[in-house]
Amino acid sequence: MTATTLATQLMISSDLLTGTEWNASSVRELLQLSADIKARPDRYRGALTGRVLALIFEKPSLRTRVTFEVGIQSMGGSAVFLDHTQSRLGERESLTDVARSLERWVHGIVARVFEQTALEALAAKAKIPVINALSDRFHPCQALADFFTLEEKFGSLRGLKLAYVGDGNNVCNSLLLAGARLGAHLRVATPAGYEPAPEIVAEARRTARETKAKIELLRDPAEAVTGAQAVYTDTWTSMGFEKEACERKAAFAGFQVNDAMMELLAPEGVFMHCLPAHRGAEVTDEVMDGERCIAFDQAENRLHVQKAILLTLLS
Ligand code: CP
Ligand code: NVA
Repeated sequence: MTATTLATQLMISSDLLTGTEWNASSVRELLQLSADIKARPDRYRGALTGRVLALIFEKPSLRTRVTFEVGIQSMGGSAVFLDHTQSRLGERESLTDVARSLERWVHGIVARVFEQTALEALAAKAKIPVINALSDRFHPCQALADFFTLEEKFGSLRGLKLAYVGDGNNVCNSLLLAGARLGAHLRVATPAGYEPAPEIVAEARRTARETKAKIELLRDPAEAVTGAQAVYTDTWTSMGFEKEACERKAAFAGFQVNDAMMELLAPEGVFMHCLPAHRGAEVTDEVMDGERCIAFDQAENRLHVQKAILLTLLS
């Protein structure tokens, strides 16, 4: 919500809370900027000199924390990590007071929270950009990096078939929103009761009508994967749902990505995972360690895409 950022020039929100803030053309521009940052990182070395980020994390992280810290540092800025894994945000003082204090010292907030509503409350009160680093509902930075990775591998995203098999969770929701904006063909297979949120599917389908993207919800993982260019999975038990781990393990039997499932992909088909992976559960060792696994390219690209997000919202 600063006055003259690139985001305001492009007339998009200064926050990245759900991923719906950015329309198809702003997502496309973000991916182009990400490609330039990846190809010519030196060009951006001083681009965020003196800018400071607060990283508030209510849940553990490897990739998101490291890529935001390394990303801002590589452009001349710095980050302050606020560990909220032992105490919930809003417990010690109100979210309003947290926001109104932080905006006096830092230029942006990156927050990983249990509840999307906490993120939105922070953004409503802070006069600085707020970026979703994962919530119960969305993981926009992940999905944007994932489509950047797919575009690198396949050249074009138009009509590219991405099968998502497993839990219709935060990552799945964000893949739907980003994929719809980029004209991809998403086939989501989940067990009954684990579908992505209906209002998010509806939003993705509305966007898909304009971009010629396609969104299919299925029950059968084999149907989703057959002929696809990529199969994507994620943990069956997301952070915050640990009490349901046993019933989830039973519900997701048949959804493991293994060599037999990989055989159903198009010949050039790849395996994707946001990580952390649970080897032997949603994916086998053979698939994770196989040549078709691009999960670590996804992890690398978190860095380049988040640098583009920071440049767009903070510079
Ligand atoms: N994929 C992802 O967000 O990883 P972390 O939980 O390690 O940040
Ligand atoms: N769906 C997972 C993603 C972790 C990066 C979770 O929320 O735990």
